[in-house]
Amino acid sequence: MTGTAFTPRVFSGIQPSGGLTLGNYLGALKRFVDMQDAGTHECVYCLVDLHAITVWQNPDDLRKQTREAAAAFMAAGVDPARSVLFNQSQAPAHAQLAWAFNCVARMGWMGRMTQWKDKAGKNSEQASLGLFAYPALMAADILAYHATHVPVGEDQKQHLELTRDIAAKFNHDFGVDFFPITEPVIDGPATRVMSLRDGTKKMSKSDPSDMSRINFSDDADKIAQKFRKARTDPEPLPATYAELKDRPEARNLIDIYAALAAKSTDAVMAEVGGQGWGQFKPHLAEVAVEVLSPMTGEMNRFMDDPAEIDRILGEGSAKAREISEPILAKTYEIMGMIAS
Ligand code: AMP
Ligand code: TRP
Repeated sequence: MTGTAFTPRVFSGIQPSGGLTLGNYLGALKRFVDMQDAGTHECVYCLVDLHAITVWQNPDDLRKQTREAAAAFMAAGVDPARSVLFNQSQAPAHAQLAWAFNCVARMGWMGRMTQWKDKAGKNSEQASLGLFAYPALMAADILAYHATHVPVGEDQKQHLELTRDIAAKFNHDFGVDFFPITEPVIDGPATRVMSLRDGTKKMSKSDPSDMSRINFSDDADKIAQKFRKARTDPEPLPATYAELKDRPEARNLIDIYAALAAKSTDAVMAEVGGQGWGQFKPHLAEVAVEVLSPMTGEMNRFMDDPAEIDRILGEGSAKAREISEPILAKTYEIMGMIAS
């Protein structure tokens, strides 16, 4: 390694495989906006439709969810004039680089991915080949931009380690210092927002129970109802965060509150320690509505003009192609696929 200096660049993605949740917002989207606003990195944000199709997607739903996700990104503060915002399938370098990485990554590496094991379950013979290769496509997303930093939730940590392994193996196999060893950015109090029904499972858009999650599309009443019914233990809130160690449901609600109110968990405990759930839950719902409802309104406004969303995604994908195509071409050349 010669220690090539790479331009500071952020890449991250969200699957348009359903409506976005509070977990996506706190674990990913909010932090995408923070990194954009910090102005220290070029930011590239992607709706990963090629990842979404690793499990069955109804085509009309996928189209609608892709536009909705774009609207949610913009409503949350992703500014297409300052960040690149596009959908993955419109920048062909992702799929093309993924093929090269399919030939770099090893079957054993993929087989160890916990997301693969969870999603394929016992029925792995029936899972798509794409679901197995999913992490190589994710590495291609990131490395087609020579991204140096990737903000994600905790559940993506293993995939980012694999991305680093692919970059390192490529650099080593071909004797180059071409791909950066990307840094995961997993920080803040809400890197793993849990289900409101089960404090041991993450909040997910694919959970069969709608009561387990807060959706971007939920109105104030729905949000209040979901927090009111959120599973908790009978104890009141303790004075310190450390005392929540073995109370996953209680800790989750405190983490959510801290992230929404942008306060440290210690400051939150100083404020709410001693409260019972009847007092804390309505307060939490209020803060959630304050943060989410302006975004929901803004998102619906964007959705009134789908042609404008398509135009913005079109412009974003042109910028994405400008960055990713030369990197893909160079990769193919390094591998000996003509040129040079
Ligand atoms: P996905 O919805 O699986 O495409 O996830 C998109 C992004 O949201 C990734 O960075 C995930 O890590 C993040 N994310 C999804 N669910 C959660 C959650 N429950 N808590 C925190 N981050 C999450
Ligand atoms: N696999 C990620 C998820 O489901 C989504 C994703 C795809 C991604 N490509 C990415 C995240 C590149 C960060 C960088 O959460």
